[in-house]
Amino acid sequence: MEVVIVPDAASGGELIAEAMARLLRHTPDALLGVATGSTPLPVYRALTAKVRSGAVDPAHARVAQLDEYVGLPAEHPESYRSVLRREVLEPLGIPMDNFIGPDGTAPDVQAACEAYDRALAEAGGVDLQLLGIGTDGHIGFNEPCSSLASRTRIKTLTEQTRVDNARFFDGDIEQVPHHVITQGIGTILEARHLVLLATGEGKADAVAATVEGPVAAVCPASALQLHPHATVVVDEAAASELKLADYFRHTYADKPEWQGI
Ligand code: PGA
Repeated sequence: MEVVIVPDAASGGELIAEAMARLLRHTPDALLGVATGSTPLPVYRALTAKVRSGAVDPAHARVAQLDEYVGLPAEHPESYRSVLRREVLEPLGIPMDNFIGPDGTAPDVQAACEAYDRALAEAGGVDLQLLGIGTDGHIGFNEPCSSLASRTRIKTLTEQTRVDNARFFDGDIEQVPHHVITQGIGTILEARHLVLLATGEGKADAVAATVEGPVAAVCPASALQLHPHATVVVDEAAASELKLADYFRHTYADKPEWQGI
């Protein structure tokens, strides 16, 4: 995997937004896999700035959801469908018709998960999947010890993730659902390019386990080591536990700019 150490979150956002813009210039109807949480926001801000300046036109882009709470109605402000509409589709001017995601309120959750995996395949697969990482190493909502071959399915959140996400529910952990639908790790690995962004010291241990630890289900993000085109973008704080940080800095500094990430 390629590890790019950037000075701060805004630079990471700019780097990834440029990779998305480059993809969309080449493939205007590319399928972008997007993530929720605080970390990806600088990416969406930077991409929106590029759209406003005319550097890229995402009108034909398609957007795929990574995960969703079970039981929150789609119109709930914290359902990930609502969050993505607010933070990604509306600012970029992408119509909701171009959006696919799992149905978190389906009476048959397992059938909804299987239907979503089929929808991703029928859409031709994800071209670029943006990922955050949990403090416990999760990607999507694949919590520690998720099968590295897993498909989209229902998962139970760890207490840590519910504590981490309570800030989106007025700080009240009781309002954070216990169950989610998440693309499986096997599903995520089918995207053509995986881009994981991690910022802040709180992610430093998870980043070190992802990049320099063994491939192990206890750190789900370590599955990125199995992907032929995975890019991990980290700010200095999130890189602070990496033993090979100098090597990563050196190789990226010497990379020809035309290669992108
Ligand atoms: P965060 O969430 O970006 O809000 O830290 C990341 C994640 O849980 O994947």
